[in-house]
Amino acid sequence: MKVQIIYSSLSGCTRKVAEGIYHSLTGVDKSIHDLKDGEPVLDGDILLLGYWVDKGGPNEQMHAFLEKLKGKTVGIFCTLAFYADSEHGYQSLKKGVDLAAQKNTVIGSYVCNGALSEQMLARFRTGKDGGHHAASPEKELRWKMMNTHPTQAEISLAAERFGERIQLYREFTENGLKFVSIQ
Ligand SMILES: Cc1cc2nc3c(=O)[nH]c(=O)nc-3n(C[C@H](O)[C@H](O)[C@H](O)COP(=O)(O)O)c2cc1C
Repeated sequence: MKVQIIYSSLSGCTRKVAEGIYHSLTGVDKSIHDLKDGEPVLDGDILLLGYWVDKGGPNEQMHAFLEKLKGKTVGIFCTLAFYADSEHGYQSLKKGVDLAAQKNTVIGSYVCNGALSEQMLARFRTGKDGGHHAASPEKELRWKMMNTHPTQAEISLAAERFGERIQLYREFTENGLKFVSIQ
């Protein structure tokens, strides 16, 4: 069985999760690809697809990739800078999952926090975006906390999630059972 990890990462947080999953995978052929280097030949039995959240959903490059994808078995993960355990966090992951599930089988998904890049922090602090993004004492404290994410624990949980699901998918397949998308 071959697992391909394909990700898009602007400032490195999603890359950390992708690399953590990659290094944890055992007993399979595996490869890892950054979409900025182009789309790889899709020869994996399972694709694990990671994106950074842009305006509440998959970033543009991963969105375009997901729109074209069909007939594959996939896992979806993402990082975002607002609370991962919020409605926004859930919906930001679900947008990617729902898009993938239209034409593919989804074996699992995972969302965790990532740091807000220095560039975005500078924008918010200079008030360029104004509105609900503008810096405040409360947001400064949240951004400081998020600055250490993804943590090793978050990366390990992503690795555990997909490691388990790959094994489960394998057992379903070996027993002639159908894996229904988890949405
Ligand atoms: C243009 C832009 C839009 C973003 N939109 C959101 C958003 O809607 N919700 C959110 O929680 N974080 C948002 N973020 C924060 C990133 O999703 C977050 O920092 C992510 O972990 C970055 O991942 P990366 O380091 O792999 O690029 C945005 C960041 C940028 C640069």
